[in-house]
Amino acid sequence: MTQTSASRPAADIQPEGADTVALPGEDRILVLDFGSQTAQLITRRVREQNVFCQLVRHDITAERIRELQPKGLILSGGPASVYAPGSPQPDPAIFDLDIPILGICYGMQLLCRASGSGVQPGLSREFGRTSCEVVQKTGLFENMPDRFTAWMSHGDQVENLDQHFEVLASTESCRSAAVRHVRRPLFGLQFHPEVTHTEQGGLLLKNFVQEVCGCRGTWQIHSLIDRETELIRSRVGNSRVICGLSGGVDSSVVAALLASAIGEQSSCIFVDNGLLRSGEREQVEREFSGHFKTDLHVVDARDRFLGELAGVSDPQEKRRIIGRVFIEVFRKEAESIPDARFLAQGTLYPDVIESGASDDGPAATIKSHHNVGGLPEELGFELIEPLRDLFKDEVRQMGLQLGLPESLVWRHPFPGPGLAVRCLGDITESRLETLREADTIVLDELRKAGLYREIQQAFAVLLPVKTVGVMGDARTYEDTLAIRAVSTDDFMTADWYPMPHEVLGRMSTRIINEVRGVNRVVYDISSKPPGTIEWE
Ligand code: XMP
Repeated sequence: MTQTSASRPAADIQPEGADTVALPGEDRILVLDFGSQTAQLITRRVREQNVFCQLVRHDITAERIRELQPKGLILSGGPASVYAPGSPQPDPAIFDLDIPILGICYGMQLLCRASGSGVQPGLSREFGRTSCEVVQKTGLFENMPDRFTAWMSHGDQVENLDQHFEVLASTESCRSAAVRHVRRPLFGLQFHPEVTHTEQGGLLLKNFVQEVCGCRGTWQIHSLIDRETELIRSRVGNSRVICGLSGGVDSSVVAALLASAIGEQSSCIFVDNGLLRSGEREQVEREFSGHFKTDLHVVDARDRFLGELAGVSDPQEKRRIIGRVFIEVFRKEAESIPDARFLAQGTLYPDVIESGASDDGPAATIKSHHNVGGLPEELGFELIEPLRDLFKDEVRQMGLQLGLPESLVWRHPFPGPGLAVRCLGDITESRLETLREADTIVLDELRKAGLYREIQQAFAVLLPVKTVGVMGDARTYEDTLAIRAVSTDDFMTADWYPMPHEVLGRMSTRIINEVRGVNRVVYDISSKPPGTIEWE
């Protein structure tokens, strides 16, 4: 979005990345990222039209674009003013490529300015829903209603439209809300078609990619499985690939993809750190040894982890120990696998984009968390990241198509340090067992109530607090258990979930009756920020 909205620095994505290759027969749209909050969303909306789409740096060269052979370009919005010194600018030669270009908000202002129109601060900033009147119903506006609600978020706007442009739609305060060049395939929208507040925004993007750019809309997750299979096979040759399995969705999908692409040439390492939830190790063994027939190495490092964690209650210290021991254990096991040259990781598209965000942004803080349970670069392997182009929901679809069970594909995230950051205070085998039993009840009741998929993350936390209670006629003095459940889009911010009282009631009754040593259950009603999702 432009001037009035929150901003983030434009992503530092490498357009030259090995994954950004032109594949014959695949229609592709590139989104040039000028720093808008919604640049990623544009990419996603285009993919929803079954057209492959990637976000690239705003300064990608025209020459590189020619090599990648996209059918169209979209210039995203951005927080700057096009006339401000140092504002992000595209390679001017992109406007002469004769590839259709759609500029959105800041992108439109760039496009119009490059073609001789003026951009000025609007008389009033426009933010929110605005009624937009369609002037020309062809091409980009094919099948659009005469009027629709558009989402605006800008201060500057295009004035003195160059004579070669014509207006396609207007709002009361912005005559040039949508424009096109009369001879060249250049289009501009001052509003944001990618956000759901714009009615029929999906249709506008569909019209751009299908009517204007001529994309066929044939891209599917399955095309991606074929593409990744081909890329993995040609890159790996006869070498062996190691995959670190955590039991979570991303690494499981990578492992399943490897199993289908290179079969016996892949080996998976699963470290049992003693901090897993009940049944987790068994599920991994069932799926990967059993179903996929993977060369699965389960390393039983429970004693090692719990030994090093004994007596440690400081959260940061716990994380440091777990991160260090994990790398040591993983490295040792990897060394025992002969001919391993590659390491496959489940890096997702948002991670790739986030890594370009500023160091002091929220994304950066979250990432330092995520390093716990991750692997350092200096392990000496060449990296394979077959999910680099995918959003989480696409990874899930891919997992289902590869034959992973729904229960795994829709699993809530589980942190690398596992139950250690949910077992506050000292970590002992008996406290972990108490936590495991309570956690199983929480998830079980959530599933029975049909709420598991509606909530993004839910779990139990064992507190280092004993309270007085009464059971039968006797006084008790036992542990307190907290239940945490959040709804969130991206895990960077989250709301506590308004759990129905009867579900909370069932959880509490069962935990107090069935889990020895717990006599009190509380519900966490803090949002993030200021709370985090995990308690440590
Ligand atoms: P917080 O607690 O920072 O968590 O609000 C945000 C999301 O990240 C997960 N998380 C981790 N995941 N290693 C991981 O792989 C970690 O060290 C880690 N710490 C937190 C957390 O479960 C939530 O989904």
